[in-house]
Amino acid sequence: MVKIGMVGVGAISGIYLKNITGLFQEIEVEAVCDLVREKAEKAKEEYGVPKIYDTMYDLFADDEIDIVLNLTRPYEHYEVTKAALEAGKHVYSEKPLAATFEEGKALVELAKDKGLMLGGAPDTFMGAGIQTCRKLIEDGFIGTPVGAAAFMICRGHESWHPDPEFYYKHGGGPMMDMGPYYLTAMINLLGGVRGVTGVAKTSFPQRVITSQPKAGTVIDVDVPTYVTGILDFDSGAVGTLFTTFDVVNNGQARFEVYGSEGTLLVPDPNTFGGPVLLLRQEEKEFKEIPLMFDYADNSRGLGLADMAKSLETGRAFRAGYEQTLHVLEVMTAFERSSMARAYVEIESDYQSAPAMKHNPLKGVLD
Ligand SMILES: NC(=O)c1ccc[n+]([C@@H]2O[C@H](COP(=O)([O-])OP(=O)(O)OC[C@H]3O[C@@H](n4cnc5c(N)ncnc54)[C@H](O)[C@@H]3O)[C@@H](O)[C@H]2O)c1
Repeated sequence: MVKIGMVGVGAISGIYLKNITGLFQEIEVEAVCDLVREKAEKAKEEYGVPKIYDTMYDLFADDEIDIVLNLTRPYEHYEVTKAALEAGKHVYSEKPLAATFEEGKALVELAKDKGLMLGGAPDTFMGAGIQTCRKLIEDGFIGTPVGAAAFMICRGHESWHPDPEFYYKHGGGPMMDMGPYYLTAMINLLGGVRGVTGVAKTSFPQRVITSQPKAGTVIDVDVPTYVTGILDFDSGAVGTLFTTFDVVNNGQARFEVYGSEGTLLVPDPNTFGGPVLLLRQEEKEFKEIPLMFDYADNSRGLGLADMAKSLETGRAFRAGYEQTLHVLEVMTAFERSSMARAYVEIESDYQSAPAMKHNPLKGVLD
């Protein structure tokens, strides 16, 4: 069993605790820690977590813990991950890797220097939906990939998240929050990106929280909330990505991959399942394709379990820093391009992570 120490027990922690304790057989939660102690106590009560620590430094000092799971807010990721690596722990972080590309690069350098593993969310690309899309593309069902387009449209998270300020602060915004799902899926389907252009703006300088317990609180918006970009892939394919927290939409907007012989309708990359739909040149309508891989349900923590497997066996880690750093660079480059009114070259390289394989034991990675 690889032992996990969780830092940050907020809104997303529940699904990780549920899946680590109930689904994945190679990992267990050894300790939790939150600035608000009651949150850690609730996790201990509900999921039988053995230990609570008052500070992250106490948690990092625990020799039993192999991997630190960083579930803090985006602007806190860098400091928490840095301190964990300095203490000699492997780190799996929620997205984004850090709030800036420079911070992301510094974390990667530190992990390399220390010989530690570093990676993180999203892991939805390992789910049945995106893996099925990848197989269809690799098996030639859409011919030669030509391009992709994806749209993430919503009116922001202040209507449901209990503490939503961070979505509008450094490291937040729709591209940094939701872009990781779309970009991680896109690079797994189309390969790395060599350059981008983007236009970004903030439509509303202030937002009002309507969720409890902070309803009525006004948030000053510090980040762009309407971010559009064009992706120039290494392969020559061209992508379009549009993310916004400023516009209403009542469902998953389209995410399509275009090929010389067909078009693939990709499922919501913030989920693990389908539907996957394929339109071939000779046919008139999209047809649903049965999912060909495991993990169609909410399997958050799959990337962490995969990291634990790599730690045990030495095999490649799918959600590693090559991927999270590349995604971070592309996301932040849209804003740099917008400010400079220019094409921005991407310096980080990306090679697709190994595809998923079927393992008959549920919760055990290949
Ligand atoms: N909420 C979601 O639906 C969701 C979904 C996917 C990913 N995420 C990602 O998960 C991360 C956390 O989001 P959330 O919604 O759970 O946020 P949250 O604000 O609900 O929880 C963050 C928690 O981290 C704690 N924390 C911060 N610094 C700490 C430190 N140094 N030591 C101990 N605890 C510390 C805070 O006290 C807080 O309880 C973010 O990166 C977010 O992008 C959230």
